[in-house]
Amino acid sequence: MARKTLVAANHKMNGTLQSVKEICQNLNNAQLDPNVETVVAPPAIYLLAARETLKKEIAVAAQNVFDKPNGAFTGETSAHQLKDASVDWAILGHSERRTILGETDETVASKTKYATDNGISVIWCCGESLEQREAGKTLEVIAAQLAALKKEVSDWSKIVIAYEPIWAIGTGKVATKEQAQEVHASIRKWLKDNVSQQASDETRILYGGSVSEKNCKELAQEADIDGFLVGGASLKPAFVDIINCKK
Ligand code: PGA
Repeated sequence: MARKTLVAANHKMNGTLQSVKEICQNLNNAQLDPNVETVVAPPAIYLLAARETLKKEIAVAAQNVFDKPNGAFTGETSAHQLKDASVDWAILGHSERRTILGETDETVASKTKYATDNGISVIWCCGESLEQREAGKTLEVIAAQLAALKKEVSDWSKIVIAYEPIWAIGTGKVATKEQAQEVHASIRKWLKDNVSQQASDETRILYGGSVSEKNCKELAQEADIDGFLVGGASLKPAFVDIINCKK
């Protein structure tokens, strides 16, 4: 089964109500490759505006979601609330949340399970630091992150994996296509060995980290790169060129 390319915008903590609406309108007006699934993740406060502005073919993602039903959890958002607002996706396990907010592999896995069990598709992020890469530990680090996820999750059909080397995020230092492909292929092999042939064949694996309209075409040609999670460049009109990288 061919995997449908997915390109997701991670706005992080950027933008204003006006700029988010402009980005959404720009996407509505662009000729987007119909073979690509597009997902936009604005800051939480702009999720509703993004959903109201974007045409229905473009999905909206939260940048976080909690692993409990509605209740006394100040500051959190539930999967049920996302569903209620027609927000069908969440990004979980981003390295900024792991390092700055202290989310552990276990927290991320628990949130991923709760979200997917409650109808939210998840872009689950993993990736190594520069220190870990230089120590030759990249594949080991990612296998450990995947193993923590596997402990919680049995249905992988609502999970998209984003490989985001931490040293490439926001640095302008993109992984080479060989570096990215090597890790993507190893994730696919891990899925085959530890989950199932079907999960290995069908799970989309995105690359993230300094993706731009200039480097996306080359990366997209690699066999195991099924799309991108885009930070900085997703705030610019050139995001359309990244969505259309295979056109
Ligand atoms: P970047 O961010 O494209 O700005 O490097 C990617 C990400 O953190 O998802």
